[in-house]
Amino acid sequence: MGFSREASSKEVLTVSREKISRAHTDLRRLSAFYREVYGDMASVREVLRILGRSGGEPGSVKASELYTRSLDCQNHGGYPMLERIASVAAVCGVPGAGMRVLDVGCGVGGPGRFLADRYHCRVIGVDLVPERVEAAKALTRLTGLAAQVRYRQADAAALPFPDRAFHQVWMLDAGVHVRDKRTLFGELGRVLKPAGLLVLHDQLGLPPAMRPVVRRAPYFAPTLAQLLRHLEWAGFRLLAWQDTTAQTVAYMRQRGDRRAQRQSKSATAVDERYQPAIQLRDAYLEALTVQGSRTGVLVAGRMGTSP
Ligand SMILES: C[S@@+](CC[C@H](N)C(=O)[O-])C[C@H]1O[C@@H](n2cnc3c(N)ncnc32)[C@H](O)[C@@H]1O
Repeated sequence: MGFSREASSKEVLTVSREKISRAHTDLRRLSAFYREVYGDMASVREVLRILGRSGGEPGSVKASELYTRSLDCQNHGGYPMLERIASVAAVCGVPGAGMRVLDVGCGVGGPGRFLADRYHCRVIGVDLVPERVEAAKALTRLTGLAAQVRYRQADAAALPFPDRAFHQVWMLDAGVHVRDKRTLFGELGRVLKPAGLLVLHDQLGLPPAMRPVVRRAPYFAPTLAQLLRHLEWAGFRLLAWQDTTAQTVAYMRQRGDRRAQRQSKSATAVDERYQPAIQLRDAYLEALTVQGSRTGVLVAGRMGTSP
């Protein structure tokens, strides 16, 4: 009808209150979810124990000692997938020495430290969950990369950076948690320089097998067609796409088998600590092998010419 009216200040206030309370709930659920699934697996103490080291002075551990063992890579597919994603991205452009890369949903920081170590770029990692940001900082001090890799607590959908601040933005298996995809991709596009690259790995589709997981944490997975529409809307051009489902499935099965071996050696009853991770893996395997969910790596360029 072409009829429109200004929203009243009361309506605006109600909408923003709703948004704030939803954001608090998402943060609380995410924080509990990742604590249950990973426990203190990537704490400095646990990492030193696994490496058989004592001490933990700054710079006493190489970043590669962590990421090549997938100790700090909490993306689907761990370190082998990180290498695959990097090789797909490299065809479109590597982040040169001194370039600025933003790692969104950085977790405990494995992918960001990998990028800094491999390409000598500068990395800023952001994550919504404060304790994950603190873990990322602690591991980065341990690896002596603190001058090159920094962190901030921030929401991917409201990035605290100026326009055109980064040469590349990486977001590995974190986009699935962000409710408002238009706002998300708008933000990722805003902070990228013209012709900068977005490197994304994510899950597509949330079939019924994922319901137990979706009840515990915010999950919003578009189809590939929807994802491409969001990207186009935000001013991105698709440069590369690879389906990685088979590799994700193989990695999850391998991790599950190792966990089962540890379990059978150590205990008679199933260790309660492993339950959330086992449930999560089973849901993913059913969703990815039987019910049509996929994972994939996507590289997109921000429209514009002068980097
Ligand atoms: C599966 S983990 C991946 C972590 C890391 N990218 C990696 O590959 O090791 C997903 C991460 O996204 C973070 N996350 C979820 N929603 C977010 C948001 N709205 N803004 C920033 N980070 C978010 C979670 O706290 C979690 O650390």
